[in-house]
Amino acid sequence: MTKKFYQFPEGFWWGSATSGPQSEGAALEDGKSATIWDYWYEKEPERFFDQVGPKDTSTFYKNYKDDIKLLKEVGHNSFRTSIQWARLIPDGTGEPNPKAVEFYNNMIDAVLAEGIEPFINLFHFDMPMCMQEKGGWESREVVDAYVHFAKTCFELFGDRIKHWTTFNEPIVPVEGGYLYDFHYPNVRDGKRAAQVAYNTMLSSAKAIAEYRKMNLDGEIGIILNLTPSYPRDEKDEEDVKAARIRDLFFNRSFLDPSVKGYYPEELIDILKKDGVLPYYEEEDLDVIKNNTIDFLGVNYYQPVRIKKKEKEESFDVWMPDKYFDNYQMPGAKMNPYRGWEIFPKAIYDIAKNVQDNYGNIKWFISENGMGVEGEERFRKEDGSIEDDYRIEFYDEHLANLHKAIEEGSNCFGYHAWTAMDCWSWNNAYKNRYGFIGVDLGDQSRKIKKSGHWLKQVSDTNTVVVDDKLMPDYE
Ligand code: BG6
Repeated sequence: MTKKFYQFPEGFWWGSATSGPQSEGAALEDGKSATIWDYWYEKEPERFFDQVGPKDTSTFYKNYKDDIKLLKEVGHNSFRTSIQWARLIPDGTGEPNPKAVEFYNNMIDAVLAEGIEPFINLFHFDMPMCMQEKGGWESREVVDAYVHFAKTCFELFGDRIKHWTTFNEPIVPVEGGYLYDFHYPNVRDGKRAAQVAYNTMLSSAKAIAEYRKMNLDGEIGIILNLTPSYPRDEKDEEDVKAARIRDLFFNRSFLDPSVKGYYPEELIDILKKDGVLPYYEEEDLDVIKNNTIDFLGVNYYQPVRIKKKEKEESFDVWMPDKYFDNYQMPGAKMNPYRGWEIFPKAIYDIAKNVQDNYGNIKWFISENGMGVEGEERFRKEDGSIEDDYRIEFYDEHLANLHKAIEEGSNCFGYHAWTAMDCWSWNNAYKNRYGFIGVDLGDQSRKIKKSGHWLKQVSDTNTVVVDDKLMPDYE
């Protein structure tokens, strides 16, 4: 079997991402207040796989020292997590909680002590419940409170953190909380969703403005889940149009204002025509224009396939879905546990889009990964899990990323999701993603085969790929 060696640029960041709410546990300890997840779980535990809630997620709050040593063992030179707003400022606004300041200081120092570069994100779906009660992202008061939280983080930790991001996948709380009912507050209303999306975007720009005022030695960006929308039939104008509109709503609604400082005109026209343009103030537009990102993080898991609307659908409220239908491509390679298509070429397409249409801004893969149910089946005698399917998934995606880098894409790193098996929202611990397995009984950790693979890749800055996995669209 032929193998190809893909060498990555010098100084490439290798590692993984997690988030505070999915890994820390200690959900209501040491003064942390409830997030919408803590609240929703109390109300409707049956909405969570096996009724496992967010209370003890992977115990990073207690075990961070040992866990960070494991990150080093599996080859991390960089690592992302998030600061939980509800932990740092339990009332949503006002003074930070000293216990939380101590935890985040110690955690950041422990990461740095291992020679690992910390990337810190400020919002990962974890709205404090007290802020949701004030209207969540629909409220401008909450926008201001978030900006205060962001500023507090910069003041407390900005001497050591050189890579900040304002949001992780800001479109997901819009989809989950206001369109498709998989996040609290479980609303289905496209007009309110548009307001939530706009206020989130404004919050990001305002946080960036605060960061810039402080003249700190670091950079700030945003993490977007760019799911390319592929039309069912590229020769069918209506399919192509439907895919373009889907892209406007779910990718470009954050990508364009974050990178270019303004919204796509076609998106504004549609929202205006349909009478769902969000409330905005004239000066907001200057804030968005003047506070674009330094770098972009891209989470990529799956593409989206789209076809034109096949039959009239009537909605009680405005929904973006009036413009397109989702389409399941026959013969697509699937991850059956998550129900997501596996399509590595999209990573190349994303890279080319950023290169050609977004000024070749610096960017990195901030999440990519494969969740698998029942990994116990692959446990070997020495106790480790032989997750060759995961290594193959990463190899194939990295080969496609490498091709784009060779063609000039400005990509500076690759973070997988995730280091240690962690809690996945409604899916709880159903699908495991980690390089390191976590036993939910005694919380012990065990490096999987993919953890050793990452160490090798990061030490050599090279990915060795079987010919059968190489991109075939040269
Ligand atoms: C991303 C999120 O959407 O995908 C993570 O940033 C999430 O928080 C990850 O855990 C994997 O998705 P899921 O739904 O399987 O956990």
